[in-house]
Amino acid sequence: EELTVIRKFEHIEHCLKRNVQAHVSNGFEDVHFVHMSLPEIDKDEIDMSVEFLGRRFDYPIFIAGMTGGTKGSQLAGRINKTLAKAAQELNIPMGVGSQRAMIRKPETWESYYVRDVAPDVFLVGNLGAPQFAETMPERYGLEEALRAVETIQADALAIHMNPLQESVQPEGDTQYRGVLKALAELKAEFPYPIIAKETGAGVSKEVAIRLESIGIDAIDVGGLGGTSWSAVEYYRVKDEIGKGLALRFWDWGIKTAISVAEVRYSTDLPIIATGGMRDGITIAKALAMGATFAGVALPLLKPAVKGDVEGVIKILRRYIEEIRNAMFLVGARNVEELRKVPLVITGFTREWLEQRIDLREYLRGGRL
Ligand code: FNR
Repeated sequence: EELTVIRKFEHIEHCLKRNVQAHVSNGFEDVHFVHMSLPEIDKDEIDMSVEFLGRRFDYPIFIAGMTGGTKGSQLAGRINKTLAKAAQELNIPMGVGSQRAMIRKPETWESYYVRDVAPDVFLVGNLGAPQFAETMPERYGLEEALRAVETIQADALAIHMNPLQESVQPEGDTQYRGVLKALAELKAEFPYPIIAKETGAGVSKEVAIRLESIGIDAIDVGGLGGTSWSAVEYYRVKDEIGKGLALRFWDWGIKTAISVAEVRYSTDLPIIATGGMRDGITIAKALAMGATFAGVALPLLKPAVKGDVEGVIKILRRYIEEIRNAMFLVGARNVEELRKVPLVITGFTREWLEQRIDLREYLRGGRL
C-alpha cells in the first residue's frame, strides 16, 4: 500500500526536476496550415467553444489528470484544487490522476476532491486498465468504477491504458488479459461516460475501433512526443538492466499527431489530443485534424504544485490567444470551420499515415 503512495511522490518529483519528455516530437511539425491572406472574418468574432459528452466548454483545452492519493493528501490535494480553480475559471474540463490509491485507502479521497472549489467543472475520474484484467487479483469492476466517480462527484471516468509504463516499471502491473471484455461489461452497466486514455504511447486505429465497438464514449490519444513514462521510470529504476530497458523504450509509441489522424479516420469518437501539446498553434492543428480538445499535463504541474492558480491560468491563456490567432490566419470562425481548412502533411507523419489510412480522403473531408 505504502508503495503506491511513495511511487506517486517520486513521479511528481522526477517530472518537476528532470527531463521526462520524449526525445522525439509529437509529429505536429509535419502538419501545416495554409496561411490565408483574406480571412474574411474579424478576429474578435472567433468562438473557440466545443461540445463534448453533452456539455459546452469555452475553450478546447483539457487539463489532463495527473495526481491524487499522496500522503496526508497535501501535495496531490493542492495540485488538484489549483488545477480545478483554473478549470472552473475558464470553463474547461479536467481529470484527476489514478484513483487506485483511493480505492485502497479511502481516507485519501480528499486529495481528489475539488467540488468545493470547482462546483461546475466537468471532472473526470481515473482508474487503470490493468486493474480490470482477468488475471489481476482483486480485479476492479462496476463497484470500484462507481466509487471512483461518485466519491469525488465526477462526471465521467477515464480508464488509462499504460502498458508501456507498466512494462518498464519493476513493480509494474503487466496483466492486460481480458481488459477489453471487462470494459465492455463495465460499459454496459455504468451510468457515466467512459474515456479510454493512453498515457504517452498513442492509440492506434485498431485499438480505437475496438474501443468504439464496446461503446466507449471518447478517446484521449495520449500520444508520443510529450511526457514519457519510460523516462520517468528510467529515473526511478535502480538496477542496470531495468534502467537499460526503460531507456530503450524512452521514445516508444505512436506520435500524438499520427494517433489523432488514425482515430479520427477510423472512428466517430470524440478525441482528446494529449502528449506534448505546448503551444496554441499546435493545439489548433490538433483541432483541425479532428480533435475536440488538446490535453495538457506537464506544463501545468509546476504552477499547480505551488498552488499558483494564476500561473496555471496564465499558461492556458497564452495557448488560447495563440489558438485564436491561428484561427484568424486561416479564416476559421469556430472549431467546426477549423476542421474544414486545408492542411498539408509532410515528412515522417505523411509517410506513416499513407501506409495506415487513406490520407487524401482524410484531408479532403474525413476530419469532421
Ligand atoms: C500523468 N499522467 C497520468 N495519466 C493518467 O491517466 N493517470 C495518472 O495517474 C497520471 N499521472 C500523471 C502524473 C504526472 C506528474 C504527469 C505529468 C502525467 C499522464 C497525463 O495525463 C498525460 O497523458 C501525459 O502526461 C501527456 O501529456 P503532457 O504531459 O505531454 O502534456
